[in-house]
Amino acid sequence: MSPAEAQIRIADLRTQVAQHDELYYRRATPEITDFGYDTLKRELAGLEAQFPLFASADSPTQRVGDDRVQGFVEIAHRQKMLSLDNTYNEAEVRAFHTRLAKLLESDDLRYTVEPKIDGLAVSLTYEEGKLVRAVTRGKGDRGDDVTANVRTIRSLPHTLHGAAPRVVEIRGEIYLTAAEFERINAERAAAGEDLYANPRNLAAGTIKQLDTAEVAKRKLEIVLYSLGYCEPAVVASQTELHEKLRAWRLPVVEKIWPVRGIDAAWAAIGELDALRRSFAYGTDGAVVKLDAMAQQREVGATDKAPRWAIAYKYKPDTARTRLRAITIQVGKTGILSPVAELDPVVLAGSTVRRATLHNEDEIRRKDIRVGDLVEIEKAGEVIPAVLKSFPEERLAGAAEFDLSAAVGGKCPVCVGKIARVEVDTESGVGAAWKCQNYDCRAQRAGRLTFFCSRRALAIDGAGEIVAAKLVELDLVRDPPDIFDVALETLATLNLGTTEEPRTFGEKNATKIVAAREAARALPLEKWLYALSVPDVGESTARELAKRHRSFAELADSTLLRAVLKKAELVERRELEAPASRKNPAKTDEEKVRRKELCAQLDPEIAALDAGPLAGVPSEIGPAVAASAREFFASEHGRRLLVKLRALGIDPQGTVAAAGVFTGKTFVLTGTLPTLKREDAEQKILAAGGKVSGSVSKKTSYVLAGADAGSKLEKAQAIGVPVINEAEFLKMLS
Ligand code: IVH
Repeated sequence: MSPAEAQIRIADLRTQVAQHDELYYRRATPEITDFGYDTLKRELAGLEAQFPLFASADSPTQRVGDDRVQGFVEIAHRQKMLSLDNTYNEAEVRAFHTRLAKLLESDDLRYTVEPKIDGLAVSLTYEEGKLVRAVTRGKGDRGDDVTANVRTIRSLPHTLHGAAPRVVEIRGEIYLTAAEFERINAERAAAGEDLYANPRNLAAGTIKQLDTAEVAKRKLEIVLYSLGYCEPAVVASQTELHEKLRAWRLPVVEKIWPVRGIDAAWAAIGELDALRRSFAYGTDGAVVKLDAMAQQREVGATDKAPRWAIAYKYKPDTARTRLRAITIQVGKTGILSPVAELDPVVLAGSTVRRATLHNEDEIRRKDIRVGDLVEIEKAGEVIPAVLKSFPEERLAGAAEFDLSAAVGGKCPVCVGKIARVEVDTESGVGAAWKCQNYDCRAQRAGRLTFFCSRRALAIDGAGEIVAAKLVELDLVRDPPDIFDVALETLATLNLGTTEEPRTFGEKNATKIVAAREAARALPLEKWLYALSVPDVGESTARELAKRHRSFAELADSTLLRAVLKKAELVERRELEAPASRKNPAKTDEEKVRRKELCAQLDPEIAALDAGPLAGVPSEIGPAVAASAREFFASEHGRRLLVKLRALGIDPQGTVAAAGVFTGKTFVLTGTLPTLKREDAEQKILAAGGKVSGSVSKKTSYVLAGADAGSKLEKAQAIGVPVINEAEFLKMLS
């Protein structure tokens, strides 16, 4: 890989990792497996090591995730909360030991092996034996104060039993039992709300609720395993700590394995794997820790993780079962996806009847056929997937799967036309079949569910089942029609069958009505995202809403026209360049003519860049521009806007009004004394300014807080003014 390619890939990986961090830590709605996430991070770390030129203190490889959200008070940890390095194989566990043996100049090391709990990290502070504070990990040095919520955990003593140190930070994990998770999800399903994917996400979402009474209704649990600041010191080893936590009558893990040497540690990892499914909390690995705290101190830690501990992640659970049939689902974009219908099998604690087969190419590649014995996997976060088949055990006559033939060349829901389209898949670009009918019932229901989902307009109560029913009864054609469904109609919806009716009810219906009224006031970025414009995801919607005041402006956007114009000019420029690879100039005369043409095109492109396209981020590229313009010009796009107008809904963009910071670009670095980074950014944007990630001559100010790093140095080196929070606030007022 060339340095230029590496630079692009590094930037791409950093954006991806940052997006997944946001989903996992702040919103508790991850979209990829831990393994998928670790793979991205490893590739990034590898490239940064290979091309140190592009390493940066800002890289997600150099810091711990950030779980802080708006609405909580931030509190500094007395001792930093670090994360753990992950490994997936035995060799790396052994390499961990080899490193330590070298550092400590001894091969004879004692370890503990402990379950790795799949919950949410917190730090509890007990002063004179009394619980005074509970803080999330946050970004390691400071986190959110969740004391009130943590006090609702019934199994957590507010007073340590027996003698206690003056001050002690005790770290552990908040979790929900599988039973409690199922109970809450069942309640949510009955109320038509989105379900949580797993206990960890639900626990994380719960602890970050501002309403403590709501938290108390969910039975959170906690388990404690590690020490932060402690004064005076009370234990000399990890084993002693475990005993001490027990003596204080704090909830601890069922079992830890004190072992001598790495062979014994590896054996304990195996024993733990055999036991862990019987624990009350979910586990996804084992943590191996140096037992002696003196040795822990001696080897120390990096900025991110201790050198004295490592997490070994177990392989996701798999099971074998029979593939009975392949059915086809139609999603909100009309893509036909194959679903495996299985003989029920118990996997990772729950019964699995269906699993994803991703797409037709994947089925062919894995040679999966109806009737096959298949292996399925459940990787915590996501729906179960079919891993592979066993062709050697196949019954004679099993045919290769042909999706189009399976549906008779028509959409299985609306019986409309289907066509072959290109789609992005996990492994690059692939092909899929797509229902061409925008008004297909499956697409309508999918769009309505999405429109009401938490990340879109958060119309709680209108989940998948309710949405499907509203579409089935033709009460909703386009998502905004939900605003016109009467309370009475919602309340009397039958979500069951004629024989076994299940009425939605007045209480749930009222909730939808309240939520939809609240949605009226949401900004353009949310509405735009909610309408499922092809290619317009969350961050693109946000960027578009920063540059358009309303749907009307967006539908006739000068900016989007400029994006397309530029793309057209650039393409022409490439084709006309005398040395164009696709179309080289043949004669000298042609060369001269084409050179002149390029000389005319260049300033036109530059004028667009300096004018309407100045500061426009990469999210708003030609594909997005074409797709958004096409959407708003289409029959259904226009129909949507007419409906919104009739409903009196006219969401506003976040176009910065001219303010004190108009034309100014800021770079933020370090920790500010009172403002969170997002708040400071918000203030800058609201005052018409811009925020950039790196310092250059074009930077107007660097806003610096405590522990500012290389950005501050760079600003000083090139003479960019540096201001502190107080000066910043003064400028604003
Ligand atoms: S010890 C200095 N022990 O996993 C870090 N952590 O993925 C000491 N975790 O940040 C952590 N179970 O929140 C430790 N038995 C265990 C754990 C555990 C879960 C969490 C912890 C850590 C994260 C890393």
